[in-house]
Amino acid sequence: MKVVIIGSGKVAVFFAKKLSSGGAEVVQVFGRRLEAITGLAASVNAGPINNFDQLDKTADLYLIAVSDDAIAEVASQMPPVNGIVVHTSGAKPLSILNGKFEHSGVIYPLQSINKYTTDQVEVPVLLESNLEEDKTLLSETAQLISPQFQFLNSTERLKLHVSAVVVNNFTNYLYSLTHQFCEEQGVDFKLLMPIIAETGNRLYHFSPEILQTGPAIRKDVGTINQHLSILSSSEELSRVYRLLTDEIIKSSVFSS
Ligand SMILES: NC(=O)c1ccc[n+]([C@@H]2O[C@H](COP(=O)([O-])OP(=O)(O)OC[C@H]3O[C@@H](n4cnc5c(N)ncnc54)[C@H](OP(=O)(O)O)[C@@H]3O)[C@@H](O)[C@H]2O)c1
Repeated sequence: MKVVIIGSGKVAVFFAKKLSSGGAEVVQVFGRRLEAITGLAASVNAGPINNFDQLDKTADLYLIAVSDDAIAEVASQMPPVNGIVVHTSGAKPLSILNGKFEHSGVIYPLQSINKYTTDQVEVPVLLESNLEEDKTLLSETAQLISPQFQFLNSTERLKLHVSAVVVNNFTNYLYSLTHQFCEEQGVDFKLLMPIIAETGNRLYHFSPEILQTGPAIRKDVGTINQHLSILSSSEELSRVYRLLTDEIIKSSVFSS
């Protein structure tokens, strides 16, 4: 399978390395800034290009891994190709590529991908294609990334994407605020690792609605006030603590 990677960011690097080590031939890496793509292109023995006039038209797959807001613009700059053109966004619909290419699709890795993403990480891959006949190639590509893949439509993918933002990005924001608080207060954030890991692991076996603990669900007002008092030096964390405590107390999700 011949692949062209378009983009040089976190997901472009992830796909270039995974596909290349899985046996695909990454023939070119496209980026608007040559200096941003030469290292990546060299690492997978691909040609670096910064002009679509140089695009290899014989590839089987063109993987657009650029910022969500740039996908349509980049696609509009591409010449017509016979291979399948896909984007990697959870939020953008397949239709963003419609009309421009005969064969189009989506390969969305449902994982937080950055330079710390290891080969061992589990990555459900969500696929979509505009033609039934393209499903085989998309499935073969997904299998180079992960044994876990399935076809979903754009609306289903968007629902999972917003869910991923809440469970991953929002919790990481809470970890960051807490990390700063611990550093400022001279206590070891790493002591929280077992409780973080246990909460995640329990979700493999139980629904989160039956797992809630803590002062808010118990309506332990005295403890909540103690917490707000010690958080008084951390305005942002204090605000978030109040908001989430109020929401948990009012919430109907724990009532059954
Ligand atoms: N990171 C994740 O966890 C993750 C997971 C699943 C899916 N995705 C999706 O993967 C895609 C890429 O995300 P990412 O995390 O890899 O982003 P990123 O690391 O921020 O990289 C963005 C890339 O887009 C390029 N770009 C931005 N605007 C452009 C334009 N107008 N023309 C040409 N290239 C442009 C950037 O090029 P320059 O270097 O020249 O700015 C860079 O190569 C997005 O659709 C995202 O939703 C991300």
